[in-house]
Amino acid sequence: MKHVMKTLLLLLAAPLAALLCAADDGATVPALLLSEQGREIRTARAWERVRRPEIVRMLSTEVYGVAPDTRVEARYRTVEEDAAALDGAATRRQVRITLRAAGMEHIADMLLYIPNGAEGPVPVIFGLNFKGNHATTTDPDVIMPAEPKSSPTVAPRGDNARRWPYAEAIARGYAVATICKDDFFPDRNDGYDGSVLPMLYAGSDIPDSVRMKAVGAWSWGISRAIDCLETMPELDTRRIMVIGHSRLGKTSLWAAATDPRIAVAVSNDSGSTGASLARGKQGETVEKINTSFPYWFTDNYKRYNGREAQMPFDQHMLLALVAPRPLYVASASLDDWADPRNEMRAAQLCGQVYSLYGLKPLTWQQDQLPAAGATFIDGDVAYHLREGGHDIVLFDWERFMNFADKYFR
Ligand code: GCU
Repeated sequence: MKHVMKTLLLLLAAPLAALLCAADDGATVPALLLSEQGREIRTARAWERVRRPEIVRMLSTEVYGVAPDTRVEARYRTVEEDAAALDGAATRRQVRITLRAAGMEHIADMLLYIPNGAEGPVPVIFGLNFKGNHATTTDPDVIMPAEPKSSPTVAPRGDNARRWPYAEAIARGYAVATICKDDFFPDRNDGYDGSVLPMLYAGSDIPDSVRMKAVGAWSWGISRAIDCLETMPELDTRRIMVIGHSRLGKTSLWAAATDPRIAVAVSNDSGSTGASLARGKQGETVEKINTSFPYWFTDNYKRYNGREAQMPFDQHMLLALVAPRPLYVASASLDDWADPRNEMRAAQLCGQVYSLYGLKPLTWQQDQLPAAGATFIDGDVAYHLREGGHDIVLFDWERFMNFADKYFR
Protein backbone atom coordinates (compact mmCIF):
# COMPACT_ATOMS: atom_id res chain seq x y z
CA MET A 1 0.00 0.00 0.00
CA LYS A 2 2.74 2.37 0.98
CA HIS A 3 4.45 1.48 -2.28
CA VAL A 4 1.28 2.14 -4.31
CA MET A 5 0.87 5.52 -2.64
CA LYS A 6 4.44 6.38 -3.43
CA THR A 7 4.06 5.39 -7.09
CA LEU A 8 0.88 7.41 -7.30
CA LEU A 9 2.66 10.39 -5.84
CA LEU A 10 5.46 9.99 -8.33
CA LEU A 11 3.03 9.88 -11.25
CA LEU A 12 0.93 12.78 -10.07
CA ALA A 13 3.78 15.04 -9.20
CA ALA A 14 6.91 14.25 -11.10
CA PRO A 15 8.56 17.61 -10.42
CA LEU A 16 7.67 17.23 -6.76
CA ALA A 17 9.27 13.82 -6.69
CA ALA A 18 12.39 15.25 -8.25
CA LEU A 19 12.76 17.33 -5.15
CA LEU A 20 12.78 14.39 -2.80
CA CYS A 21 16.29 13.23 -2.26
CA ALA A 22 17.40 9.68 -1.67
CA ALA A 23 19.97 9.09 1.06
CA ASP A 24 22.37 6.16 0.83
CA ASP A 25 20.16 3.58 2.49
CA GLY A 26 17.25 4.45 0.25
CA ALA A 27 15.65 6.50 2.99
CA THR A 28 14.16 9.69 1.64
CA VAL A 29 14.82 12.96 3.38
CA PRO A 30 12.06 15.57 3.35
CA ALA A 31 12.26 17.95 0.41
CA LEU A 32 13.83 21.30 1.07
CA LEU A 33 12.16 23.05 -1.82
CA LEU A 34 8.57 22.02 -1.33
CA SER A 35 6.32 23.97 1.04
CA GLU A 36 3.94 22.37 3.50
CA GLN A 37 1.13 23.33 1.08
CA GLY A 38 2.91 21.43 -1.69
CA ARG A 39 4.19 24.53 -3.44
CA GLU A 40 7.47 24.20 -5.28
CA ILE A 41 10.04 26.72 -4.14
CA ARG A 42 11.88 28.06 -7.18
CA THR A 43 13.27 31.40 -6.05
CA ALA A 44 15.25 32.82 -3.18
CA ARG A 45 12.29 35.09 -2.47
CA ALA A 46 9.86 32.16 -2.13
CA TRP A 47 12.43 30.40 0.04
CA GLU A 48 12.64 33.40 2.35
CA ARG A 49 8.92 34.15 2.40
CA VAL A 50 7.49 30.65 2.54
CA ARG A 51 9.79 27.74 3.10
CA ARG A 52 12.47 29.14 5.37
CA PRO A 53 9.96 30.33 8.01
CA GLU A 54 8.26 26.91 7.91
CA ILE A 55 11.56 25.19 8.61
CA VAL A 56 12.54 27.62 11.37
CA ARG A 57 9.18 27.01 13.03
CA MET A 58 9.51 23.24 12.69
CA LEU A 59 13.07 23.03 14.00
CA SER A 60 12.15 25.37 16.87
CA THR A 61 9.11 23.45 18.08
CA GLU A 62 10.47 19.97 17.35
CA VAL A 63 14.16 20.20 18.19
CA TYR A 64 15.97 23.29 19.49
CA GLY A 65 13.18 25.15 21.27
CA VAL A 66 11.10 28.29 20.92
CA ALA A 67 12.87 31.36 22.30
CA PRO A 68 10.69 33.80 24.23
CA ASP A 69 10.90 37.46 23.24
CA THR A 70 11.85 38.50 26.77
CA ARG A 71 13.51 41.90 26.90
CA VAL A 72 16.90 41.34 28.46
CA GLU A 73 19.02 44.21 29.67
CA ALA A 74 22.76 43.70 29.24
CA ARG A 75 25.70 45.40 30.95
CA TYR A 76 29.32 44.94 29.93
CA ARG A 77 32.22 45.57 32.26
CA THR A 78 35.85 45.12 31.25
CA VAL A 79 37.41 43.43 34.25
CA GLU A 80 40.90 43.01 32.82
CA GLU A 81 42.78 44.27 29.80
CA ASP A 82 46.38 43.96 28.65
CA ALA A 83 47.71 45.45 25.43
CA ALA A 84 50.83 43.27 25.52
CA ALA A 85 49.28 39.81 25.44
CA LEU A 86 50.58 36.94 23.28
CA ASP A 87 54.10 38.41 23.23
CA GLY A 88 52.74 41.80 22.25
CA ALA A 89 50.76 40.55 19.24
CA ALA A 90 47.37 41.05 20.81
CA THR A 91 45.28 42.87 23.34
CA ARG A 92 43.61 40.54 25.81
CA ARG A 93 40.30 41.70 27.21
CA GLN A 94 38.08 39.96 29.75
CA VAL A 95 34.53 41.22 29.92
CA ARG A 96 31.82 40.38 32.41
CA ILE A 97 28.39 40.33 30.79
CA THR A 98 25.49 40.83 33.19
CA LEU A 99 22.06 39.99 31.82
CA ARG A 100 18.92 41.08 33.63
CA ALA A 101 15.24 40.31 33.13
CA ALA A 102 12.22 39.52 35.28
CA GLY A 103 14.06 40.67 38.40
CA MET A 104 16.71 38.03 37.83
CA GLU A 105 20.35 38.34 36.88
CA HIS A 106 22.71 36.12 34.99
CA ILE A 107 26.46 36.40 34.40
CA ALA A 108 28.68 35.28 31.52
CA ASP A 109 32.42 35.92 31.19
CA MET A 110 34.03 36.60 27.82
CA LEU A 111 37.69 36.29 26.91
CA LEU A 112 38.86 38.13 23.83
CA TYR A 113 42.14 38.57 21.96
CA ILE A 114 42.33 41.41 19.44
CA PRO A 115 45.28 41.75 17.04
CA ASN A 116 47.42 44.82 17.75
CA GLY A 117 48.31 47.35 15.08
CA ALA A 118 45.43 46.60 12.71
CA GLU A 119 44.52 49.35 10.29
CA GLY A 120 40.80 49.27 10.97
CA PRO A 121 38.16 47.12 12.59
CA VAL A 122 39.09 43.45 12.36
CA PRO A 123 36.98 40.36 11.61
CA VAL A 124 36.05 38.18 14.57
CA ILE A 125 35.89 34.47 15.25
CA PHE A 126 33.56 33.58 18.09
CA GLY A 127 33.17 30.15 19.64
CA LEU A 128 31.79 28.85 22.89
CA ASN A 129 34.22 26.64 24.81
CA PHE A 130 33.75 23.45 26.84
CA LYS A 131 35.79 23.85 30.02
CA GLY A 132 36.17 27.52 30.85
CA ASN A 133 38.05 30.42 29.26
CA HIS A 134 41.14 29.63 31.34
CA ALA A 135 41.22 26.13 29.81
CA THR A 136 41.48 27.51 26.25
CA THR A 137 44.96 28.95 26.85
CA THR A 138 48.04 28.67 29.04
CA ASP A 139 48.04 32.49 29.35
CA PRO A 140 48.43 32.87 33.15
CA ASP A 141 46.42 36.08 33.25
CA VAL A 142 43.16 34.54 32.14
CA ILE A 143 40.85 34.49 35.13
CA MET A 144 40.14 31.06 36.64
CA PRO A 145 36.54 30.54 37.78
CA ALA A 146 36.20 29.99 41.52
CA GLU A 147 33.81 27.08 41.14
CA PRO A 148 33.20 24.38 38.54
CA LYS A 149 29.87 24.58 36.71
CA SER A 150 29.33 21.26 35.00
CA SER A 151 32.06 18.92 36.20
CA PRO A 152 33.24 18.00 39.70
CA THR A 153 36.38 20.17 39.53
CA VAL A 154 37.57 23.27 37.70
CA ALA A 155 39.55 22.16 34.62
CA PRO A 156 43.32 22.79 34.77
CA ARG A 157 44.57 25.95 33.07
CA GLY A 158 45.31 25.32 29.40
CA ASP A 159 43.56 21.94 29.42
CA ASN A 160 41.97 22.56 26.02
CA ALA A 161 44.57 24.99 24.68
CA ARG A 162 45.44 22.87 21.65
CA ARG A 163 41.87 23.44 20.43
CA TRP A 164 42.32 27.21 20.52
CA PRO A 165 45.19 28.39 18.27
CA TYR A 166 44.85 32.05 19.30
CA ALA A 167 48.33 33.07 18.13
CA GLU A 168 47.73 31.70 14.62
CA ALA A 169 44.37 33.45 14.33
CA ILE A 170 45.84 36.74 15.60
CA ALA A 171 48.71 36.45 13.10
CA ARG A 172 46.12 36.18 10.35
CA GLY A 173 44.31 39.31 11.49
CA TYR A 174 41.38 37.76 13.31
CA ALA A 175 40.15 38.65 16.77
CA VAL A 176 39.00 35.59 18.70
CA ALA A 177 36.40 35.63 21.46
CA THR A 178 35.03 32.87 23.64
CA ILE A 179 32.69 32.16 26.56
CA CYS A 180 32.21 28.88 28.39
CA LYS A 181 28.95 27.19 27.36
CA ASP A 182 28.24 26.48 31.03
CA ASP A 183 27.79 30.21 31.60
CA PHE A 184 24.45 29.93 29.74
CA PHE A 185 23.47 26.40 30.73
CA PRO A 186 25.66 24.17 32.94
CA ASP A 187 26.14 21.05 30.82
CA ARG A 188 24.54 18.48 33.09
CA ASN A 189 21.16 16.92 33.62
CA ASP A 190 20.22 19.25 36.48
CA GLY A 191 21.72 22.35 34.85
CA TYR A 192 18.42 24.16 34.33
CA ASP A 193 18.37 26.12 37.58
CA GLY A 194 21.82 27.52 36.92
CA SER A 195 20.98 28.42 33.32
CA VAL A 196 19.56 31.55 31.69
CA LEU A 197 16.28 29.77 31.06
CA PRO A 198 14.40 30.48 34.32
CA MET A 199 15.03 34.16 33.63
CA LEU A 200 14.06 33.92 29.96
CA TYR A 201 10.88 31.93 30.45
CA ALA A 202 9.67 33.77 33.57
CA GLY A 203 5.98 34.48 32.98
CA SER A 204 6.04 32.96 29.50
CA ASP A 205 3.13 30.87 28.22
CA ILE A 206 5.30 28.89 25.80
CA PRO A 207 4.41 25.22 26.44
CA ASP A 208 7.04 23.14 28.24
CA SER A 209 7.30 20.63 25.40
CA VAL A 210 8.71 23.23 22.98
CA ARG A 211 10.96 25.16 25.35
CA MET A 212 14.68 25.45 24.74
CA LYS A 213 17.06 23.42 26.81
CA ALA A 214 20.87 23.43 26.85
CA VAL A 215 21.55 23.71 23.10
CA GLY A 216 18.88 26.40 22.73
CA ALA A 217 20.31 28.30 25.70
CA TRP A 218 23.86 28.04 24.32
CA SER A 219 22.74 29.33 20.91
CA TRP A 220 20.91 32.18 22.57
CA GLY A 221 24.13 32.90 24.46
CA ILE A 222 26.05 33.22 21.20
CA SER A 223 23.68 36.01 20.17
CA ARG A 224 24.25 37.77 23.50
CA ALA A 225 28.00 37.45 22.93
CA ILE A 226 27.57 39.12 19.53
CA ASP A 227 25.58 41.95 21.18
CA CYS A 228 28.61 42.53 23.38
CA LEU A 229 31.13 42.33 20.51
CA GLU A 230 29.07 44.90 18.62
CA THR A 231 29.94 47.50 21.27
CA MET A 232 33.68 47.24 20.51
CA PRO A 233 34.86 49.65 17.81
CA GLU A 234 38.05 47.63 17.11
CA LEU A 235 35.87 44.81 15.78
CA ASP A 236 34.00 44.56 12.51
CA THR A 237 30.99 42.49 13.53
CA ARG A 238 29.70 42.40 9.96
CA ARG A 239 32.55 39.94 9.52
CA ILE A 240 31.93 37.41 12.23
CA MET A 241 32.54 33.70 11.89
CA VAL A 242 31.01 31.46 14.55
CA ILE A 243 32.66 28.11 15.04
CA GLY A 244 31.76 25.18 17.24
CA HIS A 245 32.96 21.65 17.85
CA SER A 246 30.65 18.72 18.44
CA ARG A 247 27.78 19.70 20.78
CA LEU A 248 28.93 23.27 20.19
CA GLY A 249 28.83 22.63 16.43
CA LYS A 250 25.16 21.75 16.77
CA THR A 251 24.89 24.99 18.71
CA SER A 252 26.75 27.18 16.21
CA LEU A 253 24.49 25.92 13.40
CA TRP A 254 21.30 26.74 15.28
CA ALA A 255 22.77 30.12 16.26
CA ALA A 256 23.51 30.86 12.60
CA ALA A 257 20.02 29.70 11.65
CA THR A 258 18.46 32.17 14.08
CA ASP A 259 20.89 35.09 14.08
CA PRO A 260 21.50 36.75 10.71
CA ARG A 261 24.49 38.69 12.09
CA ILE A 262 26.57 35.53 11.87
CA ALA A 263 28.34 35.98 8.53
CA VAL A 264 30.06 32.59 8.28
CA ALA A 265 29.02 29.44 10.17
CA VAL A 266 31.28 26.53 11.02
CA SER A 267 30.24 23.11 12.26
CA ASN A 268 33.08 20.85 13.33
CA ASP A 269 32.23 17.17 13.93
CA SER A 270 28.73 18.18 15.04
CA GLY A 271 27.12 14.81 14.22
CA SER A 272 23.70 13.89 15.54
CA THR A 273 21.23 16.79 15.55
CA GLY A 274 24.03 18.91 14.09
CA ALA A 275 25.18 18.57 10.50
CA SER A 276 24.57 14.83 10.16
CA LEU A 277 21.42 13.52 8.47
CA ALA A 278 19.41 11.48 10.98
CA ARG A 279 18.03 9.09 8.38
CA GLY A 280 20.36 6.18 7.81
CA LYS A 281 22.79 7.54 10.38
CA GLN A 282 25.65 5.51 11.84
CA GLY A 283 26.69 5.93 15.47
CA GLU A 284 24.55 8.24 17.54
CA THR A 285 20.82 8.14 16.72
CA VAL A 286 18.02 10.44 17.87
CA GLU A 287 17.12 7.98 20.60
CA LYS A 288 20.71 7.70 21.80
CA ILE A 289 21.26 11.44 22.01
CA ASN A 290 17.93 12.00 23.76
CA THR A 291 18.73 9.27 26.25
CA SER A 292 22.27 10.37 27.12
CA PHE A 293 21.46 14.08 26.96
CA PRO A 294 17.76 14.54 27.77
CA TYR A 295 18.50 18.15 28.74
CA TRP A 296 19.90 19.30 25.35
CA PHE A 297 16.81 19.49 23.12
CA THR A 298 13.06 20.02 23.52
CA ASP A 299 10.87 17.38 25.12
CA ASN A 300 9.09 17.24 21.78
CA TYR A 301 12.22 15.87 20.11
CA LYS A 302 11.92 12.69 22.16
CA ARG A 303 8.80 11.80 20.19
CA TYR A 304 11.14 10.90 17.33
CA ASN A 305 13.18 8.35 19.27
CA GLY A 306 13.50 5.39 16.90
CA ARG A 307 11.24 7.20 14.40
CA GLU A 308 13.68 9.09 12.21
CA ALA A 309 11.75 8.13 9.08
CA GLN A 310 8.66 9.94 10.40
CA MET A 311 10.42 13.22 11.12
CA PRO A 312 9.07 16.02 8.90
CA PHE A 313 12.60 17.42 8.86
CA ASP A 314 16.20 16.33 8.70
CA GLN A 315 19.49 18.06 9.28
CA HIS A 316 20.05 19.31 5.70
CA MET A 317 17.27 21.75 6.58
CA LEU A 318 19.23 23.15 9.49
CA LEU A 319 22.19 23.70 7.16
CA ALA A 320 19.99 25.31 4.53
CA LEU A 321 18.90 27.95 7.05
CA VAL A 322 22.43 29.34 6.97
CA ALA A 323 22.07 30.25 3.27
CA PRO A 324 23.00 32.55 1.64
CA ARG A 325 25.79 32.97 4.18
CA PRO A 326 28.89 30.81 3.72
CA LEU A 327 28.79 27.51 5.57
CA TYR A 328 31.60 25.12 6.49
CA VAL A 329 30.91 21.55 7.59
CA ALA A 330 33.95 19.60 8.81
CA SER A 331 34.25 15.91 9.67
CA ALA A 332 36.99 13.61 10.96
CA SER A 333 37.69 10.27 9.31
CA LEU A 334 37.49 8.15 12.48
CA ASP A 335 34.48 9.94 13.94
CA ASP A 336 31.91 7.19 13.35
CA TRP A 337 29.75 8.39 16.23
CA ALA A 338 29.12 11.67 14.38
CA ASP A 339 29.02 9.94 10.94
CA PRO A 340 31.17 11.88 8.44
CA ARG A 341 29.28 10.52 5.46
CA ASN A 342 25.92 11.80 6.67
CA GLU A 343 27.50 15.15 7.55
CA MET A 344 28.82 15.35 3.99
CA ARG A 345 25.44 14.31 2.53
CA ALA A 346 23.62 17.07 4.42
CA ALA A 347 26.23 19.58 3.25
CA GLN A 348 25.69 18.43 -0.33
CA LEU A 349 21.89 18.59 -0.10
CA CYS A 350 21.65 22.08 1.40
CA GLY A 351 23.33 23.36 -1.76
CA GLN A 352 19.89 23.40 -3.42
CA VAL A 353 19.12 26.53 -1.44
CA TYR A 354 22.49 28.13 -2.16
CA SER A 355 21.75 27.56 -5.86
CA LEU A 356 18.53 29.60 -5.54
CA TYR A 357 20.78 32.54 -4.64
CA GLY A 358 23.12 31.85 -7.55
CA LEU A 359 25.71 30.65 -5.06
CA LYS A 360 27.93 27.61 -5.33
CA PRO A 361 27.03 24.36 -3.55
CA LEU A 362 29.66 22.03 -2.15
CA THR A 363 31.97 21.12 -5.02
CA TRP A 364 32.33 17.48 -3.89
CA GLN A 365 29.04 15.84 -4.94
CA GLN A 366 30.07 12.18 -5.05
CA ASP A 367 28.21 9.60 -3.01
CA GLN A 368 31.26 8.31 -1.23
CA LEU A 369 33.46 10.27 1.14
CA PRO A 370 36.55 11.90 -0.34
CA ALA A 371 40.02 10.73 0.75
CA ALA A 372 40.95 11.66 4.31
CA GLY A 373 42.58 15.07 4.26
CA ALA A 374 40.56 16.32 1.28
CA THR A 375 39.29 19.88 1.57
CA PHE A 376 36.68 21.64 -0.58
CA ILE A 377 36.46 25.35 0.05
CA ASP A 378 35.83 26.63 -3.46
CA GLY A 379 32.03 26.57 -3.09
CA ASP A 380 29.93 28.67 -0.71
CA VAL A 381 29.32 25.45 1.20
CA ALA A 382 32.68 23.99 2.24
CA TYR A 383 33.64 20.59 3.58
CA HIS A 384 36.70 18.73 4.76
CA LEU A 385 37.42 15.29 6.10
CA ARG A 386 40.34 15.55 8.50
CA GLU A 387 42.27 12.37 9.08
CA GLY A 388 41.82 11.28 12.68
CA GLY A 389 39.28 11.29 15.48
CA HIS A 390 36.68 13.52 17.08
CA ASP A 391 38.49 16.78 17.82
CA ILE A 392 39.15 20.31 16.59
CA VAL A 393 42.77 21.13 15.85
CA LEU A 394 44.91 23.59 13.91
CA PHE A 395 44.30 21.64 10.66
CA ASP A 396 40.59 22.50 11.03
CA TRP A 397 41.09 26.13 12.10
CA GLU A 398 43.48 26.83 9.22
CA ARG A 399 40.89 25.71 6.72
CA PHE A 400 38.08 27.63 8.42
CA MET A 401 40.20 30.77 8.24
CA ASN A 402 41.13 30.13 4.58
CA PHE A 403 37.41 29.89 3.85
CA ALA A 404 36.56 33.04 5.83
CA ASP A 405 39.39 34.89 4.05
CA LYS A 406 37.51 34.41 0.76
CA TYR A 407 34.69 36.57 2.09
CA PHE A 408 36.37 38.82 4.63
CA ARG A 409 39.48 40.03 2.80
C1 GCU B 1 28.89 13.07 22.94
C2 GCU B 1 27.55 13.20 22.25
C3 GCU B 1 27.66 13.93 20.93
C4 GCU B 1 28.43 15.22 21.10
C5 GCU B 1 29.76 14.94 21.79
C6 GCU B 1 30.59 16.18 22.09
O1 GCU B 1 29.68 12.17 22.24
O2 GCU B 1 26.99 11.92 22.09
O3 GCU B 1 26.38 14.22 20.39
O4 GCU B 1 28.59 15.85 19.86
O5 GCU B 1 29.51 14.32 23.02
O6 GCU B 1 30.05 17.25 22.31
O7 GCU B 1 31.83 16.04 22.14
